[in-house]
Amino acid sequence: MLWHQLIACAVLALALTQLHSASSQTATSKCAKNFTEVGDQCLLAVNSWLNWYEADRYCHTKGAGLLSLKNDTQLQLINKWLNTSLANQLELWTSGNSLGQKGVYFWQNTGEQSRYLPWATGQPRPYDGDCLMLTGTYSGLGVGNYRLAIRNCSNWAVFVCEQQSQNRSTRVCLKPEAFEMAQVVV
Ligand SMILES: *[C@@H]1O[C@H](CO)[C@@H](O)[C@H](O)[C@H]1NC(C)=O
Ligand SMILES: *[C@@H]1O[C@H](CO)[C@@H](O)[C@H](O)[C@H]1NC(C)=O
Ligand SMILES: *[C@@H]1O[C@H](CO)[C@@H](O)[C@H](O)[C@H]1NC(C)=O
Ligand SMILES: *[C@@H]1O[C@H](CO)[C@@H](O)[C@H](O)[C@H]1NC(C)=O
Ligand SMILES: *[C@@H]1O[C@H](CO)[C@@H](O)[C@H](O)[C@H]1NC(C)=O
Repeated sequence: MLWHQLIACAVLALALTQLHSASSQTATSKCAKNFTEVGDQCLLAVNSWLNWYEADRYCHTKGAGLLSLKNDTQLQLINKWLNTSLANQLELWTSGNSLGQKGVYFWQNTGEQSRYLPWATGQPRPYDGDCLMLTGTYSGLGVGNYRLAIRNCSNWAVFVCEQQSQNRSTRVCLKPEAFEMAQVVV
């Protein structure tokens, strides 16, 4: 074997080792540390009282944004999860707001207009503020049945951060045959 072929083999072997460790890393977990997989979302309950702007900023420090809602199925999963992760909190911030235009709501986290708006009883009350909270109902079983209410963005509340689902890059896995072929090419 010629010396340059030997070097090519060494480089390839190194590349293969790195590819292998990289692909085993992506396989380990879907959500970042401290985030919980709820449906197809990665959520983090934060038990600190902040206003909407501060809460949004806090989520950004975790590579996330405030919670957004998509449909009823997802809201039921969130309701169930909240019972254990933020038990007995009556109100929590979502990323929903009408800070651009009164009465038109967007999820700050996804940038999408809110099409699913499950209002709580007596809502919406647009002149109460511009930010959307999930507000729960107290029953003998604790707080549950969270639905949306409009609040002043300066109010303090606990909140949930949501990590945007990411399109994961496809990694090329070289097979032994491909390794042989690569040697030939080099
Ligand atoms: C996860 O939570 C623990 C305990 O609250 C904390 O010490 C740690 O810094 C958190 N990790 C990240 C990546 O936020
Ligand atoms: C609800 O939203 C989730 C998360 O985006 C999605 O996976 C699911 O298909 C949706 N279900 C319905 C009934 O639209
Ligand atoms: C929200 O609260 C702040 C301070 O408490 C107040 O100055 C502001 O007018 C309120 N905004 C709305 C829309 O009620
Ligand atoms: C919360 O969880 C407890 C314990 O599993 C359960 O007994 C209770 O019914 C739940 N509360 C609500 C409001 O779903
Ligand atoms: C992921 O990729 C699909 C197909 O290219 C695209 O439609 C979708 O918007 C992407 N989602 C995100 C979160 O980037």
